[in-house]
Amino acid sequence: MGENTITQEELGDEYFQDPHTFHAALREQSAAHQVVLPRGLKAWLVTRYEEARLVLADARFSKDYSQFEPLFDRHFVGEGERARFEQSLAQHMLNSDPPSHTRLRKLVTKAFTARRVERLRPRIQEITDELLDAVAGQPEVDLVEALAFPLPITVICEILDVPMDQRDDFRRWSNILLAGNEPAIIQEAGGAMAAFLSRMVDDKRANPGDDIFSALVHATEDDDRLDHTELISMAFLLLVAGHETTVNLIATGVLNLLRHPEQLEKLRADRSLLPGAVEEFLRYEGPVNQATFRFTTEAVTVGDVTIPEGEIVLASLISANRDDNRFPDGETFDITRPAGGHLAFGHGIHYCLGAPLARIEGEIAVGTLLDRYDIGLADEPETLRWRSSTLIRGLYTLPVSLSARGPR
Ligand code: HEM
Repeated sequence: MGENTITQEELGDEYFQDPHTFHAALREQSAAHQVVLPRGLKAWLVTRYEEARLVLADARFSKDYSQFEPLFDRHFVGEGERARFEQSLAQHMLNSDPPSHTRLRKLVTKAFTARRVERLRPRIQEITDELLDAVAGQPEVDLVEALAFPLPITVICEILDVPMDQRDDFRRWSNILLAGNEPAIIQEAGGAMAAFLSRMVDDKRANPGDDIFSALVHATEDDDRLDHTELISMAFLLLVAGHETTVNLIATGVLNLLRHPEQLEKLRADRSLLPGAVEEFLRYEGPVNQATFRFTTEAVTVGDVTIPEGEIVLASLISANRDDNRFPDGETFDITRPAGGHLAFGHGIHYCLGAPLARIEGEIAVGTLLDRYDIGLADEPETLRWRSSTLIRGLYTLPVSLSARGPR
């Protein structure tokens, strides 16, 4: 391994607790660095804005899942066994290139229409109100558990009509699959998740409802439709993407308001700033750290570095979004800055399908919380723990003090 290789220890707990200092140093040095991920995979990490955009949108960075297993085998330098991912969960559009991606995205876009998402607004408000009612009178709560987690999971489970009594299982499997775990545990969770989703597909085929998942099962385009495995993978993608990300938009967003009281005051004084504030939450500390795997189909020059063919490449979105060359004074949290053009939802053909839904949820959750409560951090910010994931940037818990606001 070369001198510039960053090892899995360096991408370990210290990195998870403060990736920003590390990223700032990498951005200074060069456009791409070789890293060894905590699960033992060798990859290239791209941290600057322009180069991250290139990695996300250029067709020479492929996402074809049929190449993943041999690719991962070749780049595995860890000890013991490499975790093998459940194949029936992997055949989704975030793991595919055109024309397969184009076909899958078209079919899901048919079911996930802007109108259907916009229609969810009153229901999202209702769920938020219920969750905030439930903590009334409690002087201190964990905001992740009380609001940031249950809101998006309830919304996505209602959209896909996941039965209420299965949602805890779903949360457990999903957490296992996204965090660094032992291979055997990952494989078991993957199998259980696939079996559960397979039963759901069968059920929706037999008993279609008015939900988006039923629409997906029955969606057709030029006589084309999703097959059983594609439906399992699509449901998996939507459920995981819909519930591991928005939770952090809400919790990290509130944390950053609390850490910057003058910004919180500005927002309280002028509520028309809320949509811009949500964009700044996404830019300053979005829910996705390193975007999903891509690999080079030929040698590609990325800034001052040429990455050879057949290499795994990761773009750090939270790093790109603090690149001073794109966002002046990038390390400063400012809800009034023009934050548009951030990469928190990705870029190019894989741009987040759920972005409009996530924005609605973020605005309603934070807006309603501020309307109803005065909030403060219950612990010192330094004691908060961030999840040990290279993909997801999010807090395990966010203890806050709450006191109800009087009528205005
Ligand atoms: C704040 C919340 C969210 C963030 C920050 C986020 C972020 C992202 C990012 C960065 C990507 C691209 C990944 C890559 O190219 O490697 C992506 C793709 C995707 N997201 Fe989201 N997401 C969020 C919420 C959601 C929600 C609520 C849903 C669904 C209900 C969703 C569904 C998807 C899907 C289906 C894709 C794949 C699109 C494709 O491959 O064409 N996301 N998301």
